[in-house]
Amino acid sequence: MIRNTATHALRSPLPGSFYRDAAMLDQLRERVFLPSWQWAFGPEGLPAPGHVRPFNLLPGFLDEPLLATASEQGEPLILANVCTHRGNLLTRAAGPCRHLVCPYHGRRFSLDGTCITQPGLGAVPDFPGEEDHLRRPAQATWAGFHFVRMQDGPGFDSWIHPLRQRIDFLPLHALTHDPDRSMTYTVKANWALYCENYLEGLHIPFVHPALRDALDLTAYPVITDGQTVLQTGLAREGEPAFDLPPDHPDFGQRIYAWYYWLFPNLMINVYPWGLSVNVVEPVGVAETRVRFLTYRFAGQSGGPDTHALHDTELEDESVVETVQQGVRSSLYTPGRMVPGWEDGVVWFHQLLCQHLTR
Ligand code: FES
Ligand SMILES: [Fe+2]
Repeated sequence: MIRNTATHALRSPLPGSFYRDAAMLDQLRERVFLPSWQWAFGPEGLPAPGHVRPFNLLPGFLDEPLLATASEQGEPLILANVCTHRGNLLTRAAGPCRHLVCPYHGRRFSLDGTCITQPGLGAVPDFPGEEDHLRRPAQATWAGFHFVRMQDGPGFDSWIHPLRQRIDFLPLHALTHDPDRSMTYTVKANWALYCENYLEGLHIPFVHPALRDALDLTAYPVITDGQTVLQTGLAREGEPAFDLPPDHPDFGQRIYAWYYWLFPNLMINVYPWGLSVNVVEPVGVAETRVRFLTYRFAGQSGGPDTHALHDTELEDESVVETVQQGVRSSLYTPGRMVPGWEDGVVWFHQLLCQHLTR
């Protein structure tokens, strides 16, 4: 764990071409996104037992066809929505389902992905075999949130640990989705520029005039830990703050919010009323979809001021889109970063380089 103690100013190792080359996005798909943990869905996306729900992971980028089911006990199961015969999609519609039957040549699967039969193959020895069952990505569940990893990569526990050590004391078992305060934005910029902007507060006085006077920016704690960056919002007088247990790492401080980023593209913002999850989804080199998902703790009626959040989001998007135009310049080279304030960006770039050069 590293607290912001840097005294020398690093330069970003990422040239302008990183943000504009389609070939780089292909490399990122293979080396960063497929082997990393990705948000699949929240508790609202888990089908009832005996139901299936197909979904697409990172549409327009990974485009992984998956389907969610649940056991009789409500245990989630995520499978490839891809027939093991010749690759047809098994189902396109959510709903009750006794068996998955491929509409192409009739291969039949149970809801746990086990291949049962296929017309014409009944007399074939060793059919069905191990390779005939539906493929499964690695999957994990925490706080009712479901995650998948498509290729070999880091373990889930180590990935999520820094977040858990700070927020597991909260009533995470009782989060409910608030669709009225959830929305999706499209940003005309590279996904990494969007993450970089999230990872530093240096821009706040310049980009967010309404926030400039409201926040105490004299202290700006940034903690980099494993595959996460934590920025902490300290509560001003009169603002709500967490009631922390004595063994909590931040005990004694008045915490307004923890802003967690998890490599490569997930943000989990933790407030006294609940969680705001931001999923940053590349679509093209200069197009990103950002999903804002709001979850409340049981009995919490407060919540985000959605108008203020929307205004702040548009201010961020506007500057990130302008940066996208700037890094296209053949004359652009990265400048020095501000120690402390931009440590999160430096950490992000180091993680990216580690993955791209493996
Ligand atoms: S592709 Fe599914 S049965 Fe042939
Ligand atoms: Fe911002």
